[in-house]
This record gives sequence, structure tokens and C-alpha cells, in this order.
Amino acid sequence: MTEILPVTEDSLKEAKRLILRGDAVAFPTETVYGLGANAYDTAAVNKIFEIKGRPNDNPLIVHVHKDFDISTLVADVPGYAKILAEKFLPGPLTMVYRSKGAVSSAVSCGLDTLAIRIPSHEGAQKFLKYVGLPIAAPSANVSKHVSPTSAEHVLFDLNGKIDLILDGGECSGGIESTVLDCTGDIPVVLRSGLVSREMVEEAVGACREYAYREGGVARSPGMKYKHYAPACRTEMFEPAQYEQALALYDFEKAKGTKVCIICDGEGKKLVGDRKYMCLGATPGEMASNLYAELREGEKTSDLLIVISPADRSGVMAGVMNRLTKACGKRYEN
Ligand code: TXA
Ligand code: MG
Repeated sequence: MTEILPVTEDSLKEAKRLILRGDAVAFPTETVYGLGANAYDTAAVNKIFEIKGRPNDNPLIVHVHKDFDISTLVADVPGYAKILAEKFLPGPLTMVYRSKGAVSSAVSCGLDTLAIRIPSHEGAQKFLKYVGLPIAAPSANVSKHVSPTSAEHVLFDLNGKIDLILDGGECSGGIESTVLDCTGDIPVVLRSGLVSREMVEEAVGACREYAYREGGVARSPGMKYKHYAPACRTEMFEPAQYEQALALYDFEKAKGTKVCIICDGEGKKLVGDRKYMCLGATPGEMASNLYAELREGEKTSDLLIVISPADRSGVMAGVMNRLTKACGKRYEN
């Protein structure tokens, strides 16, 4: 039986008991819900991979309380990383450093680096403080499904597989944290998110975006996998191809397929009286609504047609990355 409890003294006590026993607990963050376990405990970390059905070469992020001394876990923190941490943490930015090997090697799947995240969500901070341990946590969804942005989403994916979901309401950010490689001379974005490449560049002068090429070595192993995908068929169209998108809608609809168009405020003006879901008017709104809409869409539709927004910079890079992956395509930049 999986229980959903608000974050209180009692539920935190229960969460700590489960974590110390070597179990995984779901908890809220400002991006998406995480499925956390004691990062020092190899059996507990392995349990996370098992529960999610996660490939065992896709490393986990370690979550720590804002007062945790990360120098016990990682070495060689460069000057630019200190500036970025000062500016963006706690918040939706994960930083990859050289690992000291203090946590279980199962966390990083044998890599010599470790990804560290200090979430800003009040419930996450309370959980991390109460437990007092670094917590290895991926998103709390079944592997390759859409990430969860509410306790109900977690329950849908993991009902019966875990004992406790700490409920901190709906996640405001909506897409996973930016993953930034901080092991080199300049920071490199491995996964885009709410802290954009442009924001990092503005803070420290330089930032690159890592582009994974098919068949190449993935600096962030998660890049290789299809992710964030709804259970139903999903097709993406460029804004200029909207007439093709509408033609597909009409063709499928005539066959009896339940179809829905996903679009932004601009796309909405093009769809006429067809069924649609608007993700929002700003990149932040779109990020925040994206996963809930994809989960709603897969429940009610056989086919989701995405008319992609035209903007691709800043936070939209993260939204586009998730939308493209939802459509089973790899996002190349
Ligand atoms: O917002 C988030 O980051 C959420 C919440 C729960 O904190 N977590 C999350 O975790 O999205 P997950 O496991 O779904 O994604 C972690 C990503 C993967 O793409 C993984 O490959 C990458 O981070 N990653 C983890 N450790 C890494 C490392 N040492 N080097 C490079 N990439 C790493
Ligand atoms: Mg994930």
C-alpha cells in the first residue's frame, strides 16, 4: 500500500524510518517529484533502479540540504561553480563535479563524477534536513514515462511499489533541473532546464551546450534514452507545418481516433474548433504545465499532435528538449 501524506513532523519521521531501513521515498521538489534513497547505501540505491525499471548506466543526482557540506562528496569545485551556486542555489540547477567516492558507486553507475542538487522546495528542504543524509533521487516516474509534477502522478506510476509519497503540492517549475558539467574550464549544459545556458553565461561569462550525436559517447547518459513520453502516439510539427498538423488531425479524427493538439498561445490561434490544450503564453508557464498536460492528454487521447512553439532560446530550450523527447525524437542542441 502506498500512502500519500502532507509534509508534517509525523510524515517526516516515517520518511526517515523508511530511508534508514533502506527503502525509497517519493518527495516533492520545485521541478518534479523525486524518488529518494540513502546515497551511501548501495542496496537502497539499487532499489531505485529496480522500482523505476531504469537502465543501470543512467546515473542519479544526489540531493542535499542547503547547509550540507558538499566538500565531503566532491572535489575540484571551480571558481565559476561557486559563483553559480551563490546565484542559483537552492534551485533547479544540478552541478556535476569530480566525485570523492564517498557515496555508493551505484549512484553514478561507476562514473568518476557526481551530480549534486540543492532543491529550493520547502518540503524537499525539510525532508533533506530531517533525514540528514545525501539522498540519491531520479524523477519519481516509471522509467521513460512523463515525469511527475504532483503526488497523484507519482501514485499513478508507482502505486504499490513504494510505501510513502510526501505530498508538497504541484511542482511550480515543471521540468527537470538543468544539469551542468562543472568539471572543465567552462560550464557545459548537459540537460537544459529552468536555469538556461544564457543565464549561466551571463553570470560567469561563458557556457557551452553539449550536443549528443547518435552513436557517440553520452556525457550525460540520460541523453541516450527516449524520455518523458506519454503512453499514446505523439507527433510533432514545426510552426510552419501547422497545415500538415491540422490535416493529420482531420484525417485521424475522421477515422474515429481521439486526437488532441498541444500548442502554445500562438498555435492556439491556428487550430479553429479542433480539440487542443494550450501549454501557456510564456516559457515558464509552458514548462510548469507541460507534464500535467501530457499526462492528461495520454489519458483522454489516442494521438497527441504537437505544434511546437517558434521560440527556442532560454527556458524554451528546456521545454523544446522535453517536447521533442516526448515525440520519440532526440533533441540535437
Ligand atoms: O529536477 C531534477 O533534476 C529531478 C528532481 C527529482 O530533482 N531529478 C531528475 O533526475 O530529473 P533523473 O534521474 O530523472 O535525471 C538525472 C539526469 C540524467 O539525465 C542523468 O544522466 C544525469 O542527470 N546525470 C546524473 N549524474 C550524472 C553525472 N555524474 N554525469 C553526467 N550526468 C549525470
Ligand atoms: Mg527522469
